[in-house]
Amino acid sequence: MRSLAGVLPDVEIAVIEPLLEQIEALKASRRAVILAHNYMTPDIYHGVADLRGDSLALAQMAAKTDAEVIVMAGVHFMAETAKLANPAKMVLIPDLRAGCSLAESITGADIRLLRQRYPGVPVVTYVNTSAEVKAESDICCTSSNAVAVVESLGTGRVIFLPDQYLGRWVASQTEVDLILWQGSCIVHERFTGDELRAYRKDHPGIKIIAHPECPPDVLAESDFVGSTTGMISWVERNRPRRVVMVTECSMSDNVAAELPDVEFVRPCNLCPHMKRITLQGIADSLRYLRHEVTINPAIAERARRAVTRMLEVRT
Ligand code: 13P
Ligand code: SF4
Repeated sequence: MRSLAGVLPDVEIAVIEPLLEQIEALKASRRAVILAHNYMTPDIYHGVADLRGDSLALAQMAAKTDAEVIVMAGVHFMAETAKLANPAKMVLIPDLRAGCSLAESITGADIRLLRQRYPGVPVVTYVNTSAEVKAESDICCTSSNAVAVVESLGTGRVIFLPDQYLGRWVASQTEVDLILWQGSCIVHERFTGDELRAYRKDHPGIKIIAHPECPPDVLAESDFVGSTTGMISWVERNRPRRVVMVTECSMSDNVAAELPDVEFVRPCNLCPHMKRITLQGIADSLRYLRHEVTINPAIAERARRAVTRMLEVRT
């Protein structure tokens, strides 16, 4: 078991210790691995996760693991992507309600209509989508490889779905012309440029780093833009005296526990979907093998092609 000393107060550690021990025992008996997204709460991220990362890292880890069971401490599209990347494994998601506003913003039928409107233009789909949407796509991408994926297609134009802000960010980094959709993340769309300018005024010298799901005025105010793991690596490398991570708020808690020399200014926008995942839910998931992620084989085969193609793109 990892140590939570210095991450949580001692009294809190004492309360959750029996649950942590149960999870460790269940993990061993199930031959399971827990993959945790960077937005998990510190008890999960520092207490029980075997592997931690952004969406791309989680998909890569899922593809490689030799564990028999994968528990996805993240949201549903991440569990589906893990299943697509490694179909022989049992993939569990502790709470089926852990969705995503981006995944809800588009359907397979929408993509079929777009293909009719723009014949021959390839479709790049953010992994924050259902398997049904992935199945209609040429290739997937994440926030950490989106530009490389778009450019890997060798076309002058691509349809890029569904996050309009990530799309605008990618468009600003490439010559490729992007046709966008209207999706957005309920967490990142709430940040504003004014809010960030106020941080700069109140905390002179502060570094601002943001996720590319934020609106353009937020990204324009930022010193660095990157995926969740990209943001963590930036802080680890640059060790700013004071920083604000413009993203879901558990991430600052997780990183702050490891970097006591950096002061984190912490606006708190929580993702209600990520917060469905709890230690108790993870223990129950391992104990009762629930909720197993299954994908209709006709959809899975086509969706897997889009995920595998993404994993082959060099970044
Ligand atoms: P990352 O792939 O950057 O971790 O982003 C996933 C996500 O859901 C951000 O809101
Ligand atoms: Fe989806 Fe936004 Fe939550 Fe990420 S933070 S899972 S993009 S709703």
